[in-house]
Amino acid sequence: MCGIVGYIGQKPATPILLDGLARLEYRGYDSAGVAVLAAKRSLEVHKVAGRVRDVMATLPAGFEGADDILSRCVRGHYMGIGHTRWATHGGPSDDNAHPHLSQDRRVAVVHNGIIDNAADLRKALIGDGVTFRSETDTEVLAHLVARAYADTLEDAVLEALAQVEGTYGLAVIDARHPDRIVVARNGSPIILGIGENEMHVASDVAALVRYTTQVVHLDDGELASVTLDGFRTFTWGARSTSKETVTVDWSYDDYDRGAYEHFMIKEIHEQPESVRRCIRGRVDERFHTAHLGGLNLDAREARGIRRIKILGCGSAYYAGQFGAQFIEEVARIPADAEPASEFRYRNPVVEPDTLYVAVSQSGETYDTLTAVQELKRKGGRVIGLVNVVGSSIARACDGGIYLHAGPEVAVASTKALTNMSVGFSLLGVHLGRIRDLSPANGRRLVDGLQALPNQIDAILENGQAITDAAQWVSKAQSIFFVGRVRGYPVAREGAQKLKEISYLHAEAYQTSELKHGPLALISPDVPTVAIVPDDELFDRNLTALHEISARSGPMLVITHEGVDVGDLAATTIKVPRNEPELDPILMTVPLQMLAYRVSVALGRDIDKPRNLAKSVTVE
Ligand code: G6P
Repeated sequence: MCGIVGYIGQKPATPILLDGLARLEYRGYDSAGVAVLAAKRSLEVHKVAGRVRDVMATLPAGFEGADDILSRCVRGHYMGIGHTRWATHGGPSDDNAHPHLSQDRRVAVVHNGIIDNAADLRKALIGDGVTFRSETDTEVLAHLVARAYADTLEDAVLEALAQVEGTYGLAVIDARHPDRIVVARNGSPIILGIGENEMHVASDVAALVRYTTQVVHLDDGELASVTLDGFRTFTWGARSTSKETVTVDWSYDDYDRGAYEHFMIKEIHEQPESVRRCIRGRVDERFHTAHLGGLNLDAREARGIRRIKILGCGSAYYAGQFGAQFIEEVARIPADAEPASEFRYRNPVVEPDTLYVAVSQSGETYDTLTAVQELKRKGGRVIGLVNVVGSSIARACDGGIYLHAGPEVAVASTKALTNMSVGFSLLGVHLGRIRDLSPANGRRLVDGLQALPNQIDAILENGQAITDAAQWVSKAQSIFFVGRVRGYPVAREGAQKLKEISYLHAEAYQTSELKHGPLALISPDVPTVAIVPDDELFDRNLTALHEISARSGPMLVITHEGVDVGDLAATTIKVPRNEPELDPILMTVPLQMLAYRVSVALGRDIDKPRNLAKSVTVE
């Protein structure tokens, strides 16, 4: 999705802006650009449809040197803003790329979000003689700021925003006010990075961590005036606000692929360590439970919960399905998961004794965030399972569990998804032990959680069988994933992962539902990936495998060590045994590897699959 960077400081701005934009590449985008302060109080703009390297190609040779010839030192400092765009209003083109300029080229604006009344504003501005250069909704902002009557840039931005309806994270520079960047937030993140004698602005900490770990998150309805020596925040009503500085514990190296060919495979291999981080400090050995300090839910309140509703999108929703199954089984609280994108539009009944759980890697997914806001508006209690500290969803919730997976760069979620399931397991054990889960069962599950990292390691070490299976699976056009009860969310996530990055058609079914329709599609050309844990449903699953085999459907079976499915499967992958309730976490790992290996075999753009973005911050 769109990304914003900004810099004001003693160093040439262009290389810093381009580096920041390159760090945001993982979010997905179609155009990029920068606007920097140049000599004679004017702005220089370079923007193109394409990637950040295409912007670089438009720059005069030598710009990367210490004497950055693009941005000029004006009054002893450099300044600029940059953007990566994911088209909404107007297709990807050089003109539609940000930054957008006012007619006199004095004001430049970068913007994430959507201006709802852009068409009306545009018509009025054209009536006043303004010529538009792009089809974007953003360009109106540049003209409105330039035409404001105010003397200061802050007041000009306030005057412009007073006319605007919609969502935004934005950054504005004005050659007439070369000592500041003004930023504003309403529904799309803006983060300030505090450096030494320099300040950064970004929509994602990824662009900041190389330069500083001290950050400030703006709230909706807040603006900031950012200068060389610091910043001042204020509201739409120009009332000053005070902000807390947060230390980010992610580092620049986390965004480096190292020796791995893709971020996805790197992140798959980081899972043992990231699961350890998620569990660390949260296991209570004395009471055989999980200690979750951030929930803001005391034992009496937890006992009063009569229902749990989990909301997320994409893989997060499938992790939520695992969570609902786990919590209902372990804590005996009725629980279900629903796509946040559907929930927010169906005018849901919000009950006081329901605990709502929002789950998101990025913490910025618009559908999930607005579901949380809708719930809060109706008085619901919402906790978050979120990976990005200080993100919008984390801050909108009443409490929650940070996932501690570290930054996830590949679009297809792996380590964050696994930590979502671990987070739900901790929550389930915590709630269960407050209610009727026995100490013995609490201990069994806590021990199981602690065994996960080494077991994931073992699965990853035995990856050859998956690599081999990927060769024959990649030749299919259509693939079924089946699992039942605990195995069903595994099947759904497996199908999601495969279609996201391989572009093969994949569909997940409850194994029990096969015979009620989809069995008609089974043929030698349609492989089935079957999740067959050695649990109380094993015999029933085996019956379904026979039904598939009888129709000559090739099978890849994911099962447990010590299980023999005879010659039913073309390939059998065996994973270590944990506790039945936790087994789905382990069974998901070979499916991540399968999606990855199939996509390698097909030569796909694995970390940035077509049409997808890491974090969908629009409707
Ligand atoms: C996008 C991605 C999915 C991801 C979903 C939720 O749709 O393509 O892979 O699962 O967003 O993202 P979140 O950051 O909320 O977990």
